[in-house]
Amino acid sequence: MTQKLLVTGGAGFIGANFIRLALQEGRAVVNLDALTYAGNLENLEDVAKHPDYTFIKGDIAEREVVTQAMEGADAVVNFAAESHVDRSIDNPDIFLRTNVMGTQVLLDEARHRKLGRFLQVSTDEVYGSLGETGKFREDSALAPNSPYSASKTGADLLVRAYHKTYGLATLTTRCSNNYGPLQFPEKLIPLMVTNAVEGKELPVYGDGKNVRDWIHVEDHCRALLLVLDKGRDGEIYNIGGAAEWQNIDLVRAIIRIVGASEEQIRFVKDRPGHDRRYAIDSSKIEDELGFQRTYDFETGLAQTVAWYREHQTWWEQVKSGAYRDYYAKMYGERPDAGGDL
Ligand code: NAD
Ligand code: TYD
Repeated sequence: MTQKLLVTGGAGFIGANFIRLALQEGRAVVNLDALTYAGNLENLEDVAKHPDYTFIKGDIAEREVVTQAMEGADAVVNFAAESHVDRSIDNPDIFLRTNVMGTQVLLDEARHRKLGRFLQVSTDEVYGSLGETGKFREDSALAPNSPYSASKTGADLLVRAYHKTYGLATLTTRCSNNYGPLQFPEKLIPLMVTNAVEGKELPVYGDGKNVRDWIHVEDHCRALLLVLDKGRDGEIYNIGGAAEWQNIDLVRAIIRIVGASEEQIRFVKDRPGHDRRYAIDSSKIEDELGFQRTYDFETGLAQTVAWYREHQTWWEQVKSGAYRDYYAKMYGERPDAGGDL
């Protein structure tokens, strides 16, 4: 029988890539998304009429719509979140509501239904910051430093509690920084690519030597399906890209691919509480579930730059906020006004 997934936050960057892959694999998908500034239904236009795809506009923190959306689902994959660290520094409230309270509502509904699988899509940022050496393992201490990562940690701990206390069949994945098509241009790579193309300044925080580990979004999505199918109940799986880059080196690489100028780089005030380095030990998912990446970072980055070049209208509309007119047309309302860049 076709597996039916409730995917939350499917109109965002990773969720939209995941839904496309899940449908390609013959799974049915209900997408529950509140369409905040980060949710864009144009990301899913090509599958909107797919017979196995349904969209429900709604907030994961609201019980009624969650009950409706989970009807008949075999599993939940929870992407819905406020996801940008800088926004969490400005306004933590909404991060707690969606990321913590929203996850609890989903968990609770799943528990009442004795749902087969609940996959929480989490982040390596729950482990905090590394020095020059070492990697995060699944048993590394939780030490979040931003309101975003603290809210994701809160959600992870609720997932743990629902497994231990109620026996819910949970899975938690903690992934490193994603890149690829459809990422909202407030995050490092799409912001730098689009600013480079537009001849704008490239704002690098602090000394530019903070390190992130990058994974292509398709590899992340494949790993999630693998965990959903083969992961052990109650377990945590780290997912990394094996591609550690200092921000400044990455910005220079983007400049070279785009053909922009290093004079566009501008060092700006550092982010408060800025984590210095992330690195992931992915040996558990590789050894236990046979996960293998398909992208090497240089190839993936060049393809991603090419995608942004080919989809200039998409990101120009996102950057200008014009994509919100689409919602006005579809729903007679606009998502919250946070999207202007
Ligand atoms: P995104 O910001 O692009 O998308 C988030 C989506 O969630 C949007 O479609 C938005 O409309 C929706 N949403 C927000 N609040 C909601 C609510 N209350 N109810 C229903 N829908 C809501 O985020 P993303 O980069 O695609 O990240 C998806 C998930 O993956 C997040 O949980 C994030 O913490 C996690 N993650 C992201 C990365 C990364 O590098 N982007 C890395 C590891 C983990
Ligand atoms: P970001 O894409 O926001 O992801 P995260 O903070 O969740 O890792 O940022 C990635 C890195 O790039 C991080 O070290 C902060 C840095 N950064 C800049 O230097 N300039 C920018 O304009 C942005 C958005 C990020």
